[in-house]
Amino acid sequence: MPGDVPPPESEVVAIGREIAAALPSPARHPGKAIDARAMDFTSRDAELRAALFRFVDVVPACRSVDDLAAHLTGFLGEVDAQTPPIKAAMRMGDSRAGRAALGTAAAAGVKHMARRFIVADSPAGARGTLQRLWRDGTAASVDLLGEATITSAEADGYAARCAEALDALTEIYRGSPPRPLLERDGAGPLPRANLSVKVSALTPLLRPDAPALGQEDAAPRLRALLRTARELDAHLHVDMESFDSREAITDLVLDLLAEDEFRDGPSAGMVLQAYLRDGGELLDRVLAFSAEHERASPLTIRLVKGAYWDHELVEARQHGWEPPVWEHKAESDRNFEALTLRLLAARPAVRVAIASHNLRSVAHAIAAADADVEFQVLRGLGDDLGHALAHLGHRVRVYCPVGDLVAGMAYLVRRLLENTSNESFLAEQARGAALDDLLAAP
Ligand code: 2OP
Repeated sequence: MPGDVPPPESEVVAIGREIAAALPSPARHPGKAIDARAMDFTSRDAELRAALFRFVDVVPACRSVDDLAAHLTGFLGEVDAQTPPIKAAMRMGDSRAGRAALGTAAAAGVKHMARRFIVADSPAGARGTLQRLWRDGTAASVDLLGEATITSAEADGYAARCAEALDALTEIYRGSPPRPLLERDGAGPLPRANLSVKVSALTPLLRPDAPALGQEDAAPRLRALLRTARELDAHLHVDMESFDSREAITDLVLDLLAEDEFRDGPSAGMVLQAYLRDGGELLDRVLAFSAEHERASPLTIRLVKGAYWDHELVEARQHGWEPPVWEHKAESDRNFEALTLRLLAARPAVRVAIASHNLRSVAHAIAAADADVEFQVLRGLGDDLGHALAHLGHRVRVYCPVGDLVAGMAYLVRRLLENTSNESFLAEQARGAALDDLLAAP
């Protein structure tokens, strides 16, 4: 479809129905979208959500699962509207034996969630999963868990693990069978090895009041990773995080990719968050960059809704700012569709990856794109959708977090928060919303 003209509604709905029919199990599968217990537990309580959000702040300082459990129960104790599960938990907290049991239960709950969302402790440990996915016709982006680094030594350690991960992924995919759909698009070859990294793990200095500082500190580590990725012919994707780091991350990525040595590679990408009111302005900037800097592999833009919604609202309220995010899901969904159309129209100057579990958003993108668009889903949440899309002949990449539980805690809490929110698409689907409602224009 030329330009950024919206596709006919009838086509979006027809494609949505086709995908729904291809889902491996019934689309309405209570509790499958996210663990039922976690769903129950978090319910839709604003205070509990705030407690979880504060919990994420202390995670980087925790050194063990017990430590995590202790903090988690501490925060839960401050929630006023005690729902039955929290009340039960708090009663246990009254006695020493109860506290021990509670800590163990919290740790067990966290481990249970982790097994669902985190593929393995290390890239090497993910070998079986990655090879199986590939054989079944699905690519992956391995996300090395880690964020909000506190010291330079930790940032160095994370960078070193990223370099090792690039090596390990190259080796894992070396003998894999050819999968033409996953290995080439209209813009050229697509690397098999694909790693996602977070800048907040590459520097302890990512601060909103001094973005240049974090950018400068992270640059040598990210530059070294870009070099490694180029040597190994791997793809390096830089994730977007909370709004207060967006400027630093954008400047960092675009400045580095503008350096002469990276013109011929590696394949690289960044993220556009549709829940940001000014998402379109970032896209203007990225498209201007792509027009000005011709690259052997066009920059890949992963369009997401955004994973820090609770964080942004709490942060803005605390400061009395207007939130940088849309407050209603329909606004984000509309922006997602508008950005989808703009991105698709910008090809081949950029590569487009639509990363959403929202059947409507995905169907809309398929209706608008002829070919040359990739779909991305999160391991543990979007598996069924990923299967269905791959089955229908689309290129699918699963975002596969790898790392230990402590490093993955903030990631897990984001999954819990976004999928227990009132307006989550997956939660709505799990509650049995009618397909027509799920596919309606936002
Ligand atoms: C996150 O870490 C998926 O990058 C996203 O929450």
